[in-house]
Amino acid sequence: MTSPDSFSFRSKFSSEEEKEKALVTQYRDLLHQKQGELQKTLQAGLKSFHEVDLAQAAREFRKLANDLKLLEKLATDKGNHTDRNTLNDLSGKQWIQHTKSWVVVDGRPGSITKEIKDHPASFPPSLAEFFISYFTKRGQWVMDPFMGIGSTVEACFTTQRNCFGTELNPKYCEFAQSRISKILNKDKKRKENIPKDLQWNIFNSDARNATSLWQDQNTPPIDFLITSPPYWNMLKKSRGGVKSVLKQRVEKGLDEYYSESQHDYGNIDDLAGYLSQLTDLFVSFKPLLKPKAYLMIILQNCRPKDGEMRPIAWDFANHMKEHFILRQEFIWCQDQKFAGIWGYPTTYVSNVHHHYCLVFQNSR
Ligand SMILES: C[S@@+](CC[C@H](N)C(=O)[O-])C[C@H]1O[C@@H](n2cnc3c(N)ncnc32)[C@H](O)[C@@H]1O
Repeated sequence: MTSPDSFSFRSKFSSEEEKEKALVTQYRDLLHQKQGELQKTLQAGLKSFHEVDLAQAAREFRKLANDLKLLEKLATDKGNHTDRNTLNDLSGKQWIQHTKSWVVVDGRPGSITKEIKDHPASFPPSLAEFFISYFTKRGQWVMDPFMGIGSTVEACFTTQRNCFGTELNPKYCEFAQSRISKILNKDKKRKENIPKDLQWNIFNSDARNATSLWQDQNTPPIDFLITSPPYWNMLKKSRGGVKSVLKQRVEKGLDEYYSESQHDYGNIDDLAGYLSQLTDLFVSFKPLLKPKAYLMIILQNCRPKDGEMRPIAWDFANHMKEHFILRQEFIWCQDQKFAGIWGYPTTYVSNVHHHYCLVFQNSR
């Protein structure tokens, strides 16, 4: 006969075993995907090498070395997950790796398609993956109200989280919506392993409509919000001088800014108005968010042509503090971005290759 104690022990044991099994499948899929990405980076490196673009080849090989380090960590350094962990599915060892206050993430040249290039300011899916893995558990809901071309959507798919998002520009939204099927069509193995109940509720809409869309769709409460709004109207401000990246984009026929829409937060010229409208938007999401949900909002301080820095990330944090608890900031660094020789040879103008990933928590 089974005593109640041994029964509960056994059921606990088998539920842990189930979780272990699920983790093994998750890691196998992730490793498979990362191996594919590594191969692409290696091929890009070899190609540059053959074309005697040694600087580019060196960048690709450095990227490969970083990726290999990450892959090694994933494969070997899992540590133990405890049931007391209510925030994520990570072990103690992995947890530490996610709490250092800065992270270096660059896009993978091999996976940057024409559609991705066409968007003036997307973040790499691996950046969103890194944070989503820390702030949520598998199967939870992630929101991105400024979805762009869907880097968060792809990261949710990779980490097996559900995703709810809005994007104003129909061209970007269409790409975000087709992004997952494109990945699946290329990778049959991933198609077999994807959980049937994973959902992506993503809409071509003004983020101001997110609450009603969320209600109409009966979307569950959101566990984590990660997004990067337009950095004020910076894309519309010419930097002048040496040919800027933006000017080069125009020559290649790529989008220079997001849209001409009056609803686009990138078209609000008055800085005070931009900061207060953006804060109001996030406050309007409170009913969608779980009571203690975290929000990560990625911004950059700006330096327009007049040379005076506008610390919009810091100012925004101060606005938001009135409504949410400001917990911390992560600094996202880009190590392989084009560096211009701005200001040379008279004036200090930096290459701004870092962004503030501000972490707030839905209050009390
Ligand atoms: C910095 S980008 C986000 C890029 C995104 N993280 C990605 O990786 O693709 C900001 C996005 O906000 C969108 N946007 C601007 N105003 C909006 C609004 N009112 N509602 C929804 N999206 C908006 C822009 O079209 C742009 O794609």
